[in-house]
Amino acid sequence: MGSPKLPPPGVRWTGGTRGFLHVLDQTALPGRVKWRTCRNPRAVIEAIRSLRVRGAPLIGIAAAYGMILAARDCRTQKEFERAGARLAAARPTAVNLAWAIKRMLGLGTLNPRALLVEAMRIHAEDRSSCTRIGRYALLLLKDPVLTHCNAGSLATGGAGTALSGIYEALSRKRKIWVFATETRPLLQGARLTAWELSRAGVDVTLLVDGAAAGLIASGRVRSVIVGADRIAANGDVANKVGTYGLALAARAHRIPFFVAAPISTFDPATATGKGIRIEQRDAKEVLAPFGRRLAARGVGAWNPAFDVTPAGLVTAIITEAGVVKRPSAAGIRRLLRRAAK
Ligand code: MRU
Repeated sequence: MGSPKLPPPGVRWTGGTRGFLHVLDQTALPGRVKWRTCRNPRAVIEAIRSLRVRGAPLIGIAAAYGMILAARDCRTQKEFERAGARLAAARPTAVNLAWAIKRMLGLGTLNPRALLVEAMRIHAEDRSSCTRIGRYALLLLKDPVLTHCNAGSLATGGAGTALSGIYEALSRKRKIWVFATETRPLLQGARLTAWELSRAGVDVTLLVDGAAAGLIASGRVRSVIVGADRIAANGDVANKVGTYGLALAARAHRIPFFVAAPISTFDPATATGKGIRIEQRDAKEVLAPFGRRLAARGVGAWNPAFDVTPAGLVTAIITEAGVVKRPSAAGIRRLLRRAAK
């Protein structure tokens, strides 16, 4: 059983305690594999905001390393906390960002070695969570699969969340056919998912977002799997805008709708999806994507980066600590208790 060919890691730290963070610039993909070096927390914030580094788990990992850079400018824990708050504000929806920063602050030290060890631990834990999610996902997925946005290797420290089951299948010499939505407006599906799957040898078919409901209705996909940016205590799921529509279509046509995410994506402090802050992004991304104006001048745009899928539409949430079928507040509490042991 060979391992699938995954893309280069989304982030790398080099140089030990005096080192720097290198991010794979995902805005340049698939055309160019380009690295950027972040030498201070401002550069990390810029990389996260501009989506050079993206995907909830990867943002958390980048922020953990970013806190090592931030600590260099701080003399007190209070200053370190303020730096953490600035980093956490880079993107509001993916809870992994605040989660990783809280873990780094929780060490209660500015010692670079202790901070580096913790950031590397967060990175390694995510890698192994992805592998475990993939094993559970493979037990549930029905081929062919539809996915949205990019919840693959590029979005995590490992083989991905939604895509890890596909890679797990590949490592067992099984092939699952993937339909990927292009994911307007920034085309994470077209630019990233299609790229990473095809270079790994997975058959991938791209479709425009508006074609997804029709594809599901046609019976040509047998399951939908997506990642998550934040999961509320009752199982409501915030994920890339367009996810809710896929869940509705999956329910209408009676195919399973799966969400794959690590425990770090759960937010037990937020009771329901209504409490999740949805990031609004620049209207330019819709009106003039990639710098090319499409809409007439004077036209406005509404550009939420995410939407919320109610727990009732989710067949199961797949995590490294197990699967919660028909998610509910009680089921999620049990999962989180098990994961904390
Ligand atoms: O705006 P992005 O590209 O950071 O959004 C990422 C997503 O919403 C992904 O779909 C994903 O499910 C969360 S990351 C595994």
